Amino acid sequence: MEFITLNNDVTIPQLGLGVFQTPEGEQTENAVRWALANGYRHIDTAKVYGNEESVGKGIAESGVDRKDIFLTTKLWNEDIRQHRAKAAFEESLRRLGTDYVDLYLIHWPADGWQDAWKDMIDLYHDGHIRAIGVSNFQIHHLEDLFKISDVVPAANQIESSPDFPNNEVIAYCKEHGIAVEAWSPLGGTGGKLLSSPALAEIGAKYGKSAAQVVIRWHLQRGVVVIPKSVHEERICQNIDVFDFTLTDADMAAIEAAGSGHRNGSSPDDFDF
Ligand code: A2P
Repeated sequence: MEFITLNNDVTIPQLGLGVFQTPEGEQTENAVRWALANGYRHIDTAKVYGNEESVGKGIAESGVDRKDIFLTTKLWNEDIRQHRAKAAFEESLRRLGTDYVDLYLIHWPADGWQDAWKDMIDLYHDGHIRAIGVSNFQIHHLEDLFKISDVVPAANQIESSPDFPNNEVIAYCKEHGIAVEAWSPLGGTGGKLLSSPALAEIGAKYGKSAAQVVIRWHLQRGVVVIPKSVHEERICQNIDVFDFTLTDADMAAIEAAGSGHRNGSSPDDFDF
């Protein structure tokens, strides 16, 4: 496993399991347990995914020490609008069955995010969060954040995949010491990306699947990647990406294989 060092010296495993759209219950518990049994040490959830309790159970059942796991959750828009970041954080901790998270993110730049950021800084100083960051922040949101705070977010989790590489935001984050995490890294649920013949062709050279090629593309871009799967075989496959290296030509061809369009909502027209 490769690691990235965040701007406060906390290290994050560069590959994690995403659990977006996996409901509370056995499906999420199993996915988390399978991931941890197969070498994952990083789980990415959010309050709005509605599965924090199952993530907590999966971690507890895994037998892996909590301190060896990097756990991320996110502050939901409604809680931002209602100025209840601190209460929402306590509720997330309770559901997760832990007394700290490794990374806490503002999920979207919803109205009131500036106050939420200040609350998150307090929470960080209280010692129950190892790093704080944002998600779905465009460059203009980050510029606004720098006007009100001198705490640089440790991470910005944004949509990124060969379909929508989001290179401008990534370049800006790198310039400012903000680690980038890619959501929908495989092109999202029901996406067409993984059926691209170009990806299959590149994979064939290395004995890898299209999904593995795309995960490798993210890793070589220096981005944290959190592919979601509820299938044990795919969870295993998605971490088996540390024994090959894509060439520069492969990297360009992978980016060219994408649709050029977002698969998710834009932070600029999302209805918060
Ligand atoms: P499933 O959970 O049924 O395995 P993203 O991470 O971009 O949101 O995309 C995840 C989508 O890709 C999910 O629909 C997931 O479905 C599917 N997926 C995850 N890993 C693989 C894989 N190795 N091969 C094919 N599809 C995959």
